[in-house]
Amino acid sequence: MNNLSAFYPMYESAKKWVVEAGSRLEPTSVGFFEVEHKTSAADLVTEKDREIETFFISQIRNHYPSHFVLGEEGVSNQQSYDPRKETVWIIDPIDGTTNFVHMRRSFSISVALYDKGKPVFGLVYDPIAKELFHAFVGQGAYLDTEKLKPLDGVSIEEGVISINPLWLVPNDYVDFLPFQPLVQQLRGVRYIGSAALELAYVACGRLDAYLDFRLSPWDIAAGLIILKEVHAITTTMDNREIDVFNKSTTFTAKPVLHEQILATLGNKNE
Ligand code: IPD
Ligand code: CA
Ligand code: CA
Repeated sequence: MNNLSAFYPMYESAKKWVVEAGSRLEPTSVGFFEVEHKTSAADLVTEKDREIETFFISQIRNHYPSHFVLGEEGVSNQQSYDPRKETVWIIDPIDGTTNFVHMRRSFSISVALYDKGKPVFGLVYDPIAKELFHAFVGQGAYLDTEKLKPLDGVSIEEGVISINPLWLVPNDYVDFLPFQPLVQQLRGVRYIGSAALELAYVACGRLDAYLDFRLSPWDIAAGLIILKEVHAITTTMDNREIDVFNKSTTFTAKPVLHEQILATLGNKNE
């Protein structure tokens, strides 16, 4: 493993940058902004997404010119590179753009640093709640200054979990039928609409599990680091290790619950 202490100043800078970026997304500073469709009416991007990503790119270029940036909006104009061989910042400037556009809340900024393919630190910031979830590998996970406790198990009957509602109807990724009895057994089901925030909520115990479709590196890169520090179990839906640089289904849960949910689903899903 690399000498991680060399990355500590970057972690401290990143904490300041997410808070500064987040202040641009508060209702009092946001003002009017353009909204565009990407692949469909359900796939939105705003000028704010691009502005925030550009803000991070300029900070990183100024301070760490040899680093690469993998951002959702692809604003960074850089030569092609192998993320497993470089120091890479993985950034979702607004995770939960639909929430940002419709509700002006329940979205986050997700920033992670991976060095030669290995996780170093991750931050998920909710600028409306002013909550910063963060972790540096091996140093524990935090909500602001409060250290998060390792997660305890919980039964399905007492579990409150977040599932993308599209998993409960016919879809291209999983067999939806086994999810229906699971939903009936649980104490509650929620869906927030910001993957990074939902991963952070599992880490701090607000949710007991979170399941979603094929998420991208910027949705999960920071959350995976935070979750590992509190001993959450995170895999694909077919119980394989997640490769952060590829899209995959994502299933994170408290330790025993992860096994129980897979058993209930019959572990047949892709
Ligand atoms: C989306 C959100 C959403 C998840 C989608 C993501 P975006 O990210 O995290 O909760 O279900 O798969 O694409 O587009 O708002 O950054
Ligand atoms: Ca996202
Ligand atoms: Ca986004």
